[in-house]
Amino acid sequence: MRSKEGSGGLALPRHVAIIMDGNGRWAKQQGLPRTEGHHRGARSVREVVACARELGVPFLTLYAFSVENWGRPVAEVSTLMSLLQEFLFNELPLMLKHGIRLRVIGETSAMPPAVRGVLASTLAATEKNTDMTLTLGLSYAGRNEIVRAARKIAEEAARGELNPADVTEEAFSGHLDTSYMPDPDLIIRTSGEVRISNFLLWQSAYAEFVFTDVLWPDFGKAEFILALEEFSRRNRRFGLTGEQVWPQGAR
Ligand code: FPP
Repeated sequence: MRSKEGSGGLALPRHVAIIMDGNGRWAKQQGLPRTEGHHRGARSVREVVACARELGVPFLTLYAFSVENWGRPVAEVSTLMSLLQEFLFNELPLMLKHGIRLRVIGETSAMPPAVRGVLASTLAATEKNTDMTLTLGLSYAGRNEIVRAARKIAEEAARGELNPADVTEEAFSGHLDTSYMPDPDLIIRTSGEVRISNFLLWQSAYAEFVFTDVLWPDFGKAEFILALEEFSRRNRRFGLTGEQVWPQGAR
């Protein structure tokens, strides 16, 4: 679904989700350690969040750490955890100033206690903000999320709280981590990789995809706007005919 036209006349997506990829390769190209790629990646996060907020995108979701990422070298995982803590701590004033509500999806119980602490306080401090919802995927994986939702439904049915006949697509969506957000309209992946990597598997059913060769640390405002422009040129028909979706022949 499109939200109202943005300031530049773009038909803005209501929800943009991003697979931020290429920090390691960026660092390698520069002859720097991988961790430096993640530091520069955190800068891109800041820039893209600010740009999305400025343009009026209501929901932005960033894949910051996957369940699979736990398998990376201990030092790299620990750098990513520190960066996350730093980001949450440093960006809180800006999130408050710009009305940004922070949410998380994933098995956050797996995060280290220090990260869980700062997460809990940032979630609480930004809870009432309504201008934009920034969601971080942390220890997130789409299949894991679907299995957890199925388990919750089975538990409710076993307790007699839910009739199996009432397990509709809508009810299922309501048991996912993402129950508070619309499905993504646009999913961007950086670094030239063309795959979904277990991200928002259920929710991406009708998403448009934009793949760019730009590595995440080089992805900023200009690249974000290019992806939005590409989205705004796409014809989304949701399985219908063009005539049904645009009866006035607008397209
Ligand atoms: C992918 O690059 C990126 C990640 C695994 C993590 C994303 C993390 C950040 C952008 C930094 C901090 C995040 C926040 C929210 C402040 P890669 O390491 O897989 O790159 P490669 O494929 O080139 O090795």
